[in-house]
Amino acid sequence: MTQDEAKLAVAKRAVEFVEDGMRVGLGSGTTARMFIGELAKRVNEGLKIRCVASSSQSHILGTSLGMDVTTLDELPELDVYIDGADEVGPSLALIKGGGGALLREKIVASAAKRFIVVVDSTKVVDHLGKFPLPVEVIKMAMPLVLPKLAALGLNPKQRAAKSGDGPYITDEGNFILDCACGQIADPERLAADIRKIVGVVEHGLFLNMATLALVAGDDGVTEKKA
Ligand code: A5P
Repeated sequence: MTQDEAKLAVAKRAVEFVEDGMRVGLGSGTTARMFIGELAKRVNEGLKIRCVASSSQSHILGTSLGMDVTTLDELPELDVYIDGADEVGPSLALIKGGGGALLREKIVASAAKRFIVVVDSTKVVDHLGKFPLPVEVIKMAMPLVLPKLAALGLNPKQRAAKSGDGPYITDEGNFILDCACGQIADPERLAADIRKIVGVVEHGLFLNMATLALVAGDDGVTEKKA
């Protein structure tokens, strides 16, 4: 099974967790895009749901496919949030934000009763940290935050725009620092240390948030509980 086949398999499985009348949080990234595509097919067949998206890209995609995508103003409580991840570690601790949407993803995830993470098996790890940890930073604070993250040994590097033209800017108008920190021995501690730095808006460690992981590999889609 290729990685794209695995992403599609897990996207199709995730759709089975969505029922009529649900308020659904839509994730961001390539796996979430496939999920949105599969969910839209069900909506066009008559499934009645309302959605909130975790990025402007997913909002636009959902709307363009005929889904009712609104904001947290109208739907502050969600039944389920379904999204991909860059790494899934023990206890369903996650690194997210490879696509740059970590802040809105964490906000939308926090509004949901259940957070189902959808990944291919290459994302499942024994220790988080091989994937660089994204940290979203207020622009003005960049010259202060960067050396503080470096002093924590996190090797921060500012993310460039995909076009290669200038820095990457998030949906909320902030910068991202990607921290090639290596194996994270204590994710809770690291999350607390990063959060203490004034000017950090959010980090890509999603701890005690995901309630179920759907993992696609050569043996099909398996479930992993927190
Ligand atoms: C987006 O900001 C991310 O958190 C994605 O959910 C994560 O990067 C996984 O993306 P893919 O499904 O594209 O691998």
